[in-house]
Amino acid sequence: MIKLTINGNQIQARKGETVLDVCQREDIYIPTLCYQKELEPYGGCRLCLVEVKGWSRPVTACTLPVKDGMVIETNTAFLNKLRRFTLQLILSEHPHGCLICDKQKDCAQYQGCIQKSAIVFGCKFCAQNNNCELQRLVEYLGVKEIPFTFHYRNLGVERFDPFFDRDYNICILCGRCVRVCQDVRGAGILDFHHRGPLTLVGTAFNQTHIEANCQFCGACVDACPTGALKQRYSKWTGPVEKVIETTCALCSIGCAINLNVGNNQILSSIPGRDKICVRGRFGIAPLVHHPKRITSPMLKKDGRFVTISWEEALNFASAKFTEHKGKVGIVFSPQLSGETIDAVYVLARSLAGNNITTSLNLGETFRPINFKKLARGSIFIIINTDMVSDFSPVLLKLKRQLKNEIKFIVIDAIKSKSTALADFWLKPNPAKETDVLKILLAQKKMRNNTGVSDQEIEAAKNQLSGKKIYLLYNRTNVGTLRVPKSVQLIPLSSHINALKISNIGVGCSLEDLLNNKNIDCLYLIGLAPKLNRGYKTIIVQDYFMPTFDFDLFLPAATFVETDGTLINIEGKTKPLQRAIGPLGNSKPDDWIINEIRKTVKIDTKTAKPRYKMKTIRGILKEVTTSKEYPLNLIVRENCYMYRGFPLSQFMKGFERLRQDACVWLNPELAKKMKIDNSGKIMIVGKNFNIKMRALISDVVPEQSLLVFYQPAMGVVTSQPVRIERIKK
Ligand code: SF4
Ligand code: SF4
Ligand code: SF4
Ligand code: SF4
Ligand code: FES
Repeated sequence: MIKLTINGNQIQARKGETVLDVCQREDIYIPTLCYQKELEPYGGCRLCLVEVKGWSRPVTACTLPVKDGMVIETNTAFLNKLRRFTLQLILSEHPHGCLICDKQKDCAQYQGCIQKSAIVFGCKFCAQNNNCELQRLVEYLGVKEIPFTFHYRNLGVERFDPFFDRDYNICILCGRCVRVCQDVRGAGILDFHHRGPLTLVGTAFNQTHIEANCQFCGACVDACPTGALKQRYSKWTGPVEKVIETTCALCSIGCAINLNVGNNQILSSIPGRDKICVRGRFGIAPLVHHPKRITSPMLKKDGRFVTISWEEALNFASAKFTEHKGKVGIVFSPQLSGETIDAVYVLARSLAGNNITTSLNLGETFRPINFKKLARGSIFIIINTDMVSDFSPVLLKLKRQLKNEIKFIVIDAIKSKSTALADFWLKPNPAKETDVLKILLAQKKMRNNTGVSDQEIEAAKNQLSGKKIYLLYNRTNVGTLRVPKSVQLIPLSSHINALKISNIGVGCSLEDLLNNKNIDCLYLIGLAPKLNRGYKTIIVQDYFMPTFDFDLFLPAATFVETDGTLINIEGKTKPLQRAIGPLGNSKPDDWIINEIRKTVKIDTKTAKPRYKMKTIRGILKEVTTSKEYPLNLIVRENCYMYRGFPLSQFMKGFERLRQDACVWLNPELAKKMKIDNSGKIMIVGKNFNIKMRALISDVVPEQSLLVFYQPAMGVVTSQPVRIERIKK
């Protein structure tokens, strides 16, 4: 233990702590700007200066390691004078009219003064107003004037990227965004550019953030002490009234998130104990409050949907279920809460027998992964999965646990962003990825017709010897995998309750259920797959209207409007905590199901259905092209899906980021077919045609097209196709 004296008090500290660490722990306030807890000390702003007895000059507390016997002063007139001067210098490049205006307090209340600063210069017109570290520092240090000429940068606000705005006129160059992007997220998108008074934060070559491969994780926005970086959705929504800790239900990882709530609205979702991704950071509030969300029960009467009461809705549902008993099919989303899934199975027992299924590809059993117990020097094989775009928090967990000792072997015909991580990128012909995996893990030599040379596979194989092997993959993209027991599977997807549902099993596959001609009544809970035929009755329980015809709509509350639990990939039970009440007249999924169950006569004599695991092929399919269909349409699932619909369908930002409404094609093919970026093309297959916008990209192999898995549009499996250019 180290003993030191701070402001006359004896304090104990641990070796390796800085003076700032100790002061923060002991509740001794030292002003800071460039410091942030999870970042390495930077020593840039010089506001945290302290005096050390016997030292000739003040030093920055955030970079000063404690030493036994140190005597420190943190709050002297001299220090505050220096800090004031430093802050004045910082503010000489920051619009400060409102900060030093003597009518500031009245202005905040009445805005009565006609002398107020020009709009672009005023805190009053800044989204950070009243929640600003600079304002707090000005008040603490009592800055009343800025004795330097004000230099306004006169830059336009950057609004061309999705999710957040950037106004570098109010940036104070603290570097927190740059460091969090590099050191915490490992993305390295931001840096300082130019020198002296021209210094600015930005991307390399002034690219847009999308061009610079930004993950849009929002860590920079959350690190910014000013209004320079602000989430666009909640920029002007008012103050945060409470913060609710809950779990993100948008993918299998189930990150801990905090929901900022104000005015019975979700204003934003920010990281809780976990680092989160773009979906969790920017997708939740707009999803919950989407203008197209339906929050009243609706029944089709005389060909038109009319709003009805819950009583009428439940009576209708129970009458139909009773009428069609034994001929009811239930399809549920794996993204429901665990309690809802339990309620679904109980209802299904009396209503649907084995006609219960989900969109989850169950496939092989797997042990839950414990990210805190990863073996050192492990090898991670990534197969057909874009870990950077879809599961960046997993990469951060691996990095935190294993530091730089991680090796990645990527097997993928597509140049996804995972290939940037790869120590070995094995690039086979499309649909040969699992064959490469088999050869890689086999003890004996196997026939190789994958398109990857024996030498390349051998070089990767040499890395595996004596190492613990983990396999990161999206089940939909590879199907059921057969691997040696020693390989730890980490199946990732947008479906959080995979472990729970795998343990119970389902009655049949989704395909079988939708092809079952004996089913007269469909109950779709949080999932609206493409239907092959009509039914006597279709009841939909969801947030948004499906695109097909149906009879009754039961509006469900979202996961932020309900309590419950989820089971994540680590086998952990993660809590869902209600942050706001159900919007409009919507109700929690489990409430709706339980109410229906009360009114439907439960037949306790019905034999317990036998649920099972389904072996799945996934969407990986080797395609034989022909003269008529000369191209290989590769289908991949990205995990920007919630309850069966793509997030991009409802949020433009996701569409721009993932480009999943486009067909991706190789530049050579585009040139040959005279197709421009954004040009419309028709993809024609044997039983399939679809119009899509073209995106020219070298991530796609030659003679191939890439589209994202969209069951609602019938885009579900690889197949041979041709393309036709649609004239403008
Ligand atoms: S960041 Fe915004 S609120 Fe803070 S001092 Fe600057 S203008 Fe005012
Ligand atoms: S959003 Fe994330 S990846 Fe993009 S610049 Fe900010 S911190 Fe970096
Ligand atoms: S944008 Fe914000 S976090 Fe980044 S340097 Fe400027 S003030 Fe600091
Ligand atoms: S990684 Fe998954 S659980 Fe975590 S924030 Fe993103 S979508 Fe949510
Ligand atoms: S907080 Fe210590 S120098 Fe900025």
